[in-house]
Amino acid sequence: MPGRIPAQFIDELLARVDIVEVIEQRVPLRKQGRDWSARCPFHDERSPSFTVSPAKQFYHCFGCGAHGSAIGFLMNYDRMEFPDAVEDLAARVGLKVPYEGGGKREVDDSTDLYSLLDAAAKFYQRELAKSGKAHAYFDARGLDAATIERFGLGYAPDQRDALTRALGTSPQRTALLEKAGLIKSGERGKYEYFRNRVMFPIADRRGRTIAFGGRILEKTEDSGPKYLNSPETTLFHKGQQLFALWQVRQAHAKIPRLIVVEGYMDVIALFQHGITQAVATLGTATTSDHAELLFRNCADVYFCFDGDRAGRGAAWKAVESVLPRMRDGRQAFFLFLPEGEDPDSLVRSEGQNGFEERLKAATPLSEFFFAHLSGDVNLASLDGKARLAERARPLVTQVPDGAFRDLMLAELDRRANVSLRLDAPASDVPRKSARPQERSLLRTAVALLLQNPGFATTIEPPHTFSALRQPGVALLIELIALCRERPEISTAAIVDHYAERDEGRALQKLAVMEFPGGEDAWRAEFTAALKQLDRQTQIQRRDDLDARVRSDGLASLSVEEKDELRGLKLAVAAAPPR
Ligand code: UTP
Ligand code: MN
Repeated sequence: MPGRIPAQFIDELLARVDIVEVIEQRVPLRKQGRDWSARCPFHDERSPSFTVSPAKQFYHCFGCGAHGSAIGFLMNYDRMEFPDAVEDLAARVGLKVPYEGGGKREVDDSTDLYSLLDAAAKFYQRELAKSGKAHAYFDARGLDAATIERFGLGYAPDQRDALTRALGTSPQRTALLEKAGLIKSGERGKYEYFRNRVMFPIADRRGRTIAFGGRILEKTEDSGPKYLNSPETTLFHKGQQLFALWQVRQAHAKIPRLIVVEGYMDVIALFQHGITQAVATLGTATTSDHAELLFRNCADVYFCFDGDRAGRGAAWKAVESVLPRMRDGRQAFFLFLPEGEDPDSLVRSEGQNGFEERLKAATPLSEFFFAHLSGDVNLASLDGKARLAERARPLVTQVPDGAFRDLMLAELDRRANVSLRLDAPASDVPRKSARPQERSLLRTAVALLLQNPGFATTIEPPHTFSALRQPGVALLIELIALCRERPEISTAAIVDHYAERDEGRALQKLAVMEFPGGEDAWRAEFTAALKQLDRQTQIQRRDDLDARVRSDGLASLSVEEKDELRGLKLAVAAAPPR
């Protein structure tokens, strides 16, 4: 087991690496002011909203919200594991990664693994050409030569050691075959994993074979499970892989939509009938890694499931994985199939057009969401509405800020008569509900402080504006306290501090808000914003007192309050708004 990488090393590494350089090798960047920009590699867009900041050493997309350090970029873009991303960056700057507990990482033999898996795929393909019955099987299922070629389909012969004999029997070779998940050790020695099965190679995002699925030709006493997948290996993690995503990417410069189906044969049949955007999970439920991978490739995702109970259960799992990934612009739909049918059988009987029609009529995520949660409650009763709200709330709050979240909240409001906007706790962030001018003032103050934590030292509590009844005020006061308490704190550290809280995402956005000028201008703007907030607090107090006079008469104010009101009126008149 490799040991942990110390946090200190990560800090040092990130300080030495230049994130601009790292990203530029993969995404063409253009200089824009202090920062660099590009069209976001994580979502589809026409104008660039992806920026890389050399000063803050992070990337951020204003469109989809993707963000992180150089390590995070490699993990998301190259789909590297954390230790691999660290190793990669360390090698760039000539640092050696220390592992706690003195453990060492295993020697990197992934290159050998890839070529071994590639050789295995070629071997299975040759065997398919030789095997009459495997060919007959694919024939019977209606696959043509082009489809077989496109998916690199093959056949594993019915022998204990056919693959081993073809690829080599040396001890190193055997060890590597075992690491690749192609042979395993049993009671009677080592034997090959796939025997007498038609073979479906599973490709990674660069088209390299990393695993296989194998299907029996016919059911017999000892044929084993209908489908068998490679075991998890260093290269293959089921929950992060989608069958045929590589083929979809090959077929489209820009993927118009993705259709998630359950089986290998479903994907392949759809392809052959002209629907070249289907992928399959590998015998597992949809994970949140899958959801991210899907949306990163395309904004519209269709999930196909059986119409039965199990299918609806699986669809709900997909909902749970997808909700936290529903950033603006993304859409998910659900297609439930008639009993006893799967996409393979449907596209054969109804053709491409028939299947397209079904996709057009698919259920939007929001509709399935509320239908599922309302299934067993009586929405005519108050009790039922409360039940729905109670179930929906923890799920809806996982949806990132944006149009889709607003839609879900409005829908919940409509169906259950509860406004989550008003009673949601800890949502004291500048929100859309504030009047625009006030919102931008608070946002400005929070953003400037966040980007220049040192400004906090100049403002002593107590703060007049703490009485201001506006969303965001409490956050600003908390931030001032945090920055005063930890004078060395950086922007990134503050964002981290709030990462687990509702405010995290808002702060992430404010951290990259652009202000003209330099530090002096920013400081002046910050001070001016606080002054404005003080003024708004005075106006609020004046209006409160005025309202009392209007409703209960001037006599209802004490002498001090009358003095205060006169003073407030003078002060407000003397300092006109900016
Ligand atoms: P299904 O059993 O629904 O079969 O498995 P299918 O896709 O319609 O297959 P055909 O048409 O009979 O060939 C759906 C998916 O579930 C996984 C496989 O990924 C399969 O494609 N599965 C199924 C397994 O992993 N193991 C099994 O034993 C069965
Ligand atoms: Mn089928």
